[in-house]
Amino acid sequence: MASRVGNKQMRNKIMPAADAAAFIKHGDNVGMSGFTGAGYPKAVPVALATQIREETAAGRPFDIGVWTGASTAPELDGALAETGGMKTRLPYQSDPVTRSKINSGETDYIDIHLSHLGPLVREGFLGTLDTAVIEVTAITEDGRLVPSSSVGNNKVWLDEAEKVILEVNSWQSTDLEGMHDIYDRFALPPYRQPVQMLKPSDRLGQPYLTVDPEKVIAVVETDQRDRNTPFKPLDETSKAIAGHLLDFLQHEVNVGRLPKELLPLQSGVGNIANAVLAGLLDSPFENLTSYTEVIQDGMVELIDAGKVTMASATAFSLSPDAAERMNQNAKTYRRNIILRPQEISNHPELIRRLGVIATNGLIEADIYGNVNSTHIMGSRMQNGIGGSGDFARNAYISAFVTPSTAKGGAISSIVPFVSHVDHTEHDTHILVTEQGLADLRGLAPRKRAKVIIEKCAHPTYRPLLEEYVQRASKVANGQHTPHDLEQAHSWHRRFLTSGTMMPS
Ligand code: COA
Repeated sequence: MASRVGNKQMRNKIMPAADAAAFIKHGDNVGMSGFTGAGYPKAVPVALATQIREETAAGRPFDIGVWTGASTAPELDGALAETGGMKTRLPYQSDPVTRSKINSGETDYIDIHLSHLGPLVREGFLGTLDTAVIEVTAITEDGRLVPSSSVGNNKVWLDEAEKVILEVNSWQSTDLEGMHDIYDRFALPPYRQPVQMLKPSDRLGQPYLTVDPEKVIAVVETDQRDRNTPFKPLDETSKAIAGHLLDFLQHEVNVGRLPKELLPLQSGVGNIANAVLAGLLDSPFENLTSYTEVIQDGMVELIDAGKVTMASATAFSLSPDAAERMNQNAKTYRRNIILRPQEISNHPELIRRLGVIATNGLIEADIYGNVNSTHIMGSRMQNGIGGSGDFARNAYISAFVTPSTAKGGAISSIVPFVSHVDHTEHDTHILVTEQGLADLRGLAPRKRAKVIIEKCAHPTYRPLLEEYVQRASKVANGQHTPHDLEQAHSWHRRFLTSGTMMPS
């Protein structure tokens, strides 16, 4: 296999992963590449995990802070979390081992809007970034870095880290070269400039990342695929949710509030969001664009079908099969896909200017439209807020989608009062379940409650929600947003004690 390290100076730094990992010390903050299972380093984190285990077995403490773009994969999050040495983790994860360490209190998790992390690091609020470990596709002769299947925070890490370790992964297609657009005019206030983008296809920077060669302490060659779980097959529930949302978009076109090719689409993580994309395949919409965070299978299928002409994101989030197809056909997809730093893919200024139509999953919503995207029963972290806040707050239309029940009907996704708030009632325009769609725009709280219960709640929970509203109205004496605080979380309490939100 020919080396992809074209630069002589960098070639001299090629070494085994274990030797590179040995540069990382106890107490370091390590900025790793990786975003939704794409473009994460695959060898150094595993070697680092071995090092942490050996050090702790020898009685020497070894803790690190792990910063990434977003979620990664078992070779990174799983391997490091298992050692017990992941002291802090930010800004997003979806790994089962990491999740359990977070929820047992062993790992401090800082759940941050994905567009905020880069600026927070540059502003110095999170302390020193000691080492960056970044996967790239290749290093050119003149030392530029061809990014791989995600960009995420790589630019920030390369700029800010004191030391840099590069993993050059031959599994990544060399045809990715040219797909990326690395904006490099980030500045801190008061020197920030407008980001001059008017449509998702606009390119603002260079297709390469750059790094000060003096900072590069190691180059590790790998040949390993991105590991991502396949999406669940579409079921009747997700098809119904997609159907309601598409009918709504068609209605908005009919009444002249959306152009016939819609506005740039954002699609969140998770199976339901992917199902909505699948629904667009059979819809009459054409010439669509996307300004989103991740490109899932559904988006690639829309590109294949000629329905989406341009998709801008920061990473792929593809099933194993779709990732292979992307690798084989990256040259063709380069015409329709741009991968950018997450500060740009999730930039509030751009989401607002482009008029993005945002669709994100949720864990639960309440009768007034507050949304919990992150915590199970108020306390247990699931994944994190990710980019949902970046989009929901700034979108032209902000939709949240969910099945109306979870855990076989034992949980209603529509509750009197959410047990944790990620998105407030002010940022929820549209709420969709398989039961129907609630358009909350322009409605005062009591009217929102009526529409959400009627359109979105599961029929078995609907009378209970109506009962709650009646009681709350009495208790609150007709005030603006009626709640019965004695009962507001009684559904969650009931689930925790009896295993169901349904009263016996
Ligand atoms: N109460 C308790 N558990 C619930 C629940 C509720 N109201 N709703 C869902 N769950 C559980 C499911 O049962 C499932 O559990 P399991 O893993 O044990 O099977 C888990 O939560 C995930 O639910 P699922 O229906 O598979 O959801 P999904 O794949 O559509 O993801 C979110 C939904 C909310 C977890 C996901 O969208 C997310 O992490 N969102 C936050 C980040 C985000 O929106 N990013 C996009 C920005 S671009």
